[in-house]
Amino acid sequence: MYQLHLDKADFLSQYWQQQPTVIRQGFTNFVDPIEADELAGLAMEEEISSRLVFTEGDNWRIQQGPITDFSQLGEQNWQLLVQAVNHFAEQTHPFCDSFRFLPDWRFDDLMVSFAMPGGGVGPHIDNYDVFIIQGSGSRRWTVGPLGQYQQRNNDANSPLIEDFEPIIDTVLAPGDILYIPPGFPHRGFTLEPSMSYSMGFRAPSQQELLGELADYMLDNHLGQQRFVSKSETLPAAILSEQQQQGIMQLVADLAADPRQYQSVLGRLLSQSRFDLDINEMEPELTEDELDDAIADGATLQRIGGLKVLLLEHDNQLRLFANGDIFPLPQATPEQLSQLAEARCLSAEQLTLLCEQDAIKALLLSWINAGYYYLTE
Ligand code: SIN
Ligand code: CO
Repeated sequence: MYQLHLDKADFLSQYWQQQPTVIRQGFTNFVDPIEADELAGLAMEEEISSRLVFTEGDNWRIQQGPITDFSQLGEQNWQLLVQAVNHFAEQTHPFCDSFRFLPDWRFDDLMVSFAMPGGGVGPHIDNYDVFIIQGSGSRRWTVGPLGQYQQRNNDANSPLIEDFEPIIDTVLAPGDILYIPPGFPHRGFTLEPSMSYSMGFRAPSQQELLGELADYMLDNHLGQQRFVSKSETLPAAILSEQQQQGIMQLVADLAADPRQYQSVLGRLLSQSRFDLDINEMEPELTEDELDDAIADGATLQRIGGLKVLLLEHDNQLRLFANGDIFPLPQATPEQLSQLAEARCLSAEQLTLLCEQDAIKALLLSWINAGYYYLTE
C-alpha cells in the first residue's frame, strides 16, 4: 500500500547525506496513515512527546504537550507536532517500512504534524536527515544552503535561525517528498490545513558514543588498563606530547577493538530515543500457551520503534534489542538475521524457529517483556 517510488541507488549516490531534493509523487494516491483527530488524541497522552507551535507575527511560541484543550486553537497560525507516532499507531508501520532501504539503526522516528494555514515551526536546522512527506493539504517549503546562520534575534537559546536565501522553494502536494540532509536550513509554510510526516534518521554523536562506551566499561568492569612508559620527561610540570598521545592511545585501542566496540555499538544503536509502548504480559505467558498459540496459527508482531539489530562479523552470536544484548550461541546466522529483520513472524516461521529451545525461550521472554505480541 505504501510503495516508495524512488530510484534508490541514484538517490543514495546523489543526494543522501549530501543534497536536499524533492521527490515528486514518491507515493502515488497517498492516503494519510493517521487522521488529524487520532493525532490530537495521541497528543493528549502523557507519555507521548508532542507540542503546539503558534505563529505570532515574526515569532513562534511553543506549548509543550500533553495538549488537553484543542477548543481555543482557531483556524490559522498553529501547528501540532507529535513525535514517535510509529510507536503508538500500528497502522503507520507499512508506511515506515517503505523506508527500510535505509538501515534500521539510523531510523529515529515518524513525527506527524497537523498544521493550519500560517502554521509552521519557523526557520531552523536539524542535525538529522529527514524525509518530509506531504499528506492531505499542501505546504510550501524553502531550503537554504549549508552555512553559518545567525540564531534568531541573536538569542543563543532559540532553536530558530534568521531567514535564509533558498536553493529550493517549492509547494508539496499529497505524496510529494522533500528530503533534507543534516545542516540544511529549512522552513515550512502551511497553505491549507495539512498533514505532514517527517521520517527522521540520525547517527550517533561522539558524545553519545563515548557515553555508551563509558557505561559499557563500568557495567562490565572493563577498561582497567593504564598508561605505562619507560622514560619520563622534564621539566616536571610539563606533560609531553608523546605522553599525551600515549595516554589517548588507550581510548583509541578500545575504539579499535571489535570485542569492545561491537557491544557498545549494538547497545547504543538498538535504543530508541523516544519511549516505546511497552506492555509487559501480566500474568506471564507460559511456554505451553505459546505452543498452543502457534499451533492455532498466531503470528508474532514486533512493537513499533523496537530495534532488533545484528552486527556483521560480530565476535559473538547474539542480537541487540532496546539497548540490551541477547546471546544466542546455538542459532544459525540465518535464524539470527530472520529474527533481526522480520517485524512479523508467521506461525510457520515461528514453528521452525521454536524448534530451537534457546530461540523459543528468547521469543517467550520478549513477549513477556512486551517487545512482541501475538496476534490472530
Ligand atoms: C514541520 O513539519 O514544519 C517540522 C518538520 C521539520 O522541519 O523537520
Ligand atoms: Co526540520
